[in-house]
Amino acid sequence: MSASASQDGFVVFDKVQKSYDGETLVVKDLNLSVGKGEFLTMLGPSGSGKTTCLMMLAGFETATNGEIMLDGKPINSVPPHKRGIGMVFQNYALFPHMTVGENLSFPLEVRGMGKSDRERKIKRALDMVQMGGFISRRPAQLSGGQQQRIALARALVFEPELVLMDEPLGALDKQLREHMQFEITRLAHDLGITTVYVTHDQTEALTMSDNVAVFDDGRIQQLDPPDVLYEEPKNSFVAQFIGENNTLDGVVKEIKGEECVIQLDSGDLIDAKPVNVEKVGERTRVSIRPERVEANKDRLKEGAHTIKAEVKEFIYMGDVFRTRLKVAGNENFIMKTRNAPDQVRHKPGDMIEIGWLPKDCRALDHS
Ligand SMILES: Nc1ncnc2c1ncn2[C@@H]1O[C@H](COP(=O)(O)OP(=O)(O)OP(=O)(O)O)[C@@H](O)[C@H]1O
Ligand SMILES: [Mg+2]
Repeated sequence: MSASASQDGFVVFDKVQKSYDGETLVVKDLNLSVGKGEFLTMLGPSGSGKTTCLMMLAGFETATNGEIMLDGKPINSVPPHKRGIGMVFQNYALFPHMTVGENLSFPLEVRGMGKSDRERKIKRALDMVQMGGFISRRPAQLSGGQQQRIALARALVFEPELVLMDEPLGALDKQLREHMQFEITRLAHDLGITTVYVTHDQTEALTMSDNVAVFDDGRIQQLDPPDVLYEEPKNSFVAQFIGENNTLDGVVKEIKGEECVIQLDSGDLIDAKPVNVEKVGERTRVSIRPERVEANKDRLKEGAHTIKAEVKEFIYMGDVFRTRLKVAGNENFIMKTRNAPDQVRHKPGDMIEIGWLPKDCRALDHS
């Protein structure tokens, strides 16, 4: 399922495996290629191996098998201080005995930068994280979120070629978080910085990244740009993990090219696109985004299968309506419709018919 690594990326993981105890692999045969200037996000559940991958890339852990290349060279051949990597880790360790200003000055001093250049860059980095007034404080005199912002400024202040960030915005409130998301991507693109970013937050991953690698159990389940990941999940795990998703279980009845017919466990027939199924008789779980469900027959393809649904709940959300339906035994089937003048507001107890375009209903693995 993982993408094959091309050897010409700026960062390349080639068949990388990692075991801490010599028995279990926490990273399993990982292939990944990150182009120069690309913003790649690793997204996945807790314990799926994201931090381990960053630690190997930073050189704090070694791969048990396989090779990691940075700019065409094996990472181990480059001493850490020459790698030009900026880092923000999950436990944002600032130097406790130094002030904020000194923390930021440090990476510039080791690179031999003069005082006036340092001051200019430090000011810019602090302004970016909205911490300009805190230059003389020590880390112990800052809140967790403020420390996190200083760690971020320190990672970016020397304009590294590669930045690794592990949940760098976890301690921030929503507004500051959104501001920082914008600032980080803007800076990364302006300076051509290659970024490997780790987050649990799928909205953050979708909005910030050029490509997202979805991790599960030490493997990349799918690596694609945000729109492809959301609209064309390759398996049930990715479909469930990214965005809201309705699922129905059944058996493949018929496959004809890009379309198939699924007989649901309730007996109903529906139209779908065969994605992760190969033959008639196979069990499948189909996946449909709430915004692709249609109650308006005019919007469906002629001859499309429709299915009966019982309205359980109607939730008015302003810009959209969320209607919870019972469909083929699933009582948590969500339909999301835009609030338009001609849009029907269904009531609990209404019996309606719904459908979708076959391409929006993906027949995936039944795992
Ligand atoms: N130093 C270590 N020694 C032994 N096992 C470790 C070590 N670090 C991590 N692990 C294990 O390796 C697996 C992957 O951990 P990792 O920290 O890479 O996950 P993660 O995807 O970053 O999770 P989270 O989202 O919770 O930060 C986990 O099962 C974890 O318990
Ligand atoms: Mg982690």
